[in-house]
Amino acid sequence: MSSQVEKTTSNDLKITDKNPIVEVQGIYKIFKQKKIEVMALRGIDLKIYPGELVVIMGPSGSGKTTLLNILSGIEKPNAGSVKIKGMEITKLKEMGIQKLLQDEIGIVFQMFNLIPSLTAAGNVELPMIVSNKEKKYRKERVKGLLKAVKLDHRMFHRPSTLSGGEKQRLAIAMAFANDPSLIIADEPTANVDSISAQNIMIVFKEFMKNNPNKAILIVTHDPELRKIADYTWVIRDGQFVRKMDKLNETSEKDEVSSDFNLMAISNTNNKHAIAKNLLEPKHFPKLSEILLCPSCHSVNIIKKLDNNDVYCQIHDSHIIQRAVIICKECFEVSFLTVSAFDINKGKINTLENE
Ligand SMILES: Nc1ncnc2c1ncn2[C@@H]1O[C@H](COP(=O)(O)OP(=O)(O)O)[C@@H](O)[C@H]1O
Ligand SMILES: [Mg+2]
Repeated sequence: MSSQVEKTTSNDLKITDKNPIVEVQGIYKIFKQKKIEVMALRGIDLKIYPGELVVIMGPSGSGKTTLLNILSGIEKPNAGSVKIKGMEITKLKEMGIQKLLQDEIGIVFQMFNLIPSLTAAGNVELPMIVSNKEKKYRKERVKGLLKAVKLDHRMFHRPSTLSGGEKQRLAIAMAFANDPSLIIADEPTANVDSISAQNIMIVFKEFMKNNPNKAILIVTHDPELRKIADYTWVIRDGQFVRKMDKLNETSEKDEVSSDFNLMAISNTNNKHAIAKNLLEPKHFPKLSEILLCPSCHSVNIIKKLDNNDVYCQIHDSHIIQRAVIICKECFEVSFLTVSAFDINKGKINTLENE
């Protein structure tokens, strides 16, 4: 086994004595339609280690599905290398790809890909029949998998009678069936309501808890999925533009509390949280002067005042107004103070002469 030394975000060193399940280097993919060329991927590098749940997040058309298709051998890249558990898959022939998909990779397709004429149990059993698993083992495993995705009560129902969320969980159980090392999922929460999306996230999290040597890669445009990711790559125009660390409990709480603060306003018992979130620049920008996302510096942002009529009270004497910037490129939500009012001194837009 090789041993790598990796730098973690906290700047200390962690030893990883495991080989990556996914090792992608310099992937380019060009689609040609008549005379028009679309460069769907331009230089993607990615390593996923056992135990990692990785999310790739980006807008529609950014190359997410193309990347998954290349990872699973369904598409060939124009350049670059793709290794799954050390095996270069870009050179595999059709039989090799089939074996890879049977043994090592479970795919959750965006449109479920369920067989309508089979029951839920029949759908989950199918991949195991294809890979010649013994009947007794198959039947036991079907029960276990349907239980794991909370569909045991739907065992003998056909897909058409299931809700969107249930279909998606069934598709996930199917992807787990042959016990693959890697699960890849394309927009698993795109076609379901928010409660079903939460349930799907729980299923993925539980899977990782019970299978610490496997990995999951999810591509999505849904920022919610960041909550279960060990880290998130933001993809734009076929390139990774930013890596976002795991959302830890504190940062989740901060995000929630900053939203809450916008509502909680005058009745705030939460001064501490507001004060903590407040940056104290000497000059505050006007809303019209904010042109770039504070996180990724993109110009593709939505700006609004947190609330035009209501102000947040902070410290003892300052009233502040904040702008919300929602970035369409990196998905970050930022809050910037755009005005401040000192109750005692009556000054607006500056704290400079205090
Ligand atoms: N088979 C194809 N032929 C031509 N262009 C394609 C094909 N598949 C994808 N593309 C183009 O490649 C880009 C990335 O597409 P895709 O990977 O599907 O993005 P995403 O999944 O992020 O929405 C888009 O511009 C899309 O139109
Ligand atoms: Mg897609």
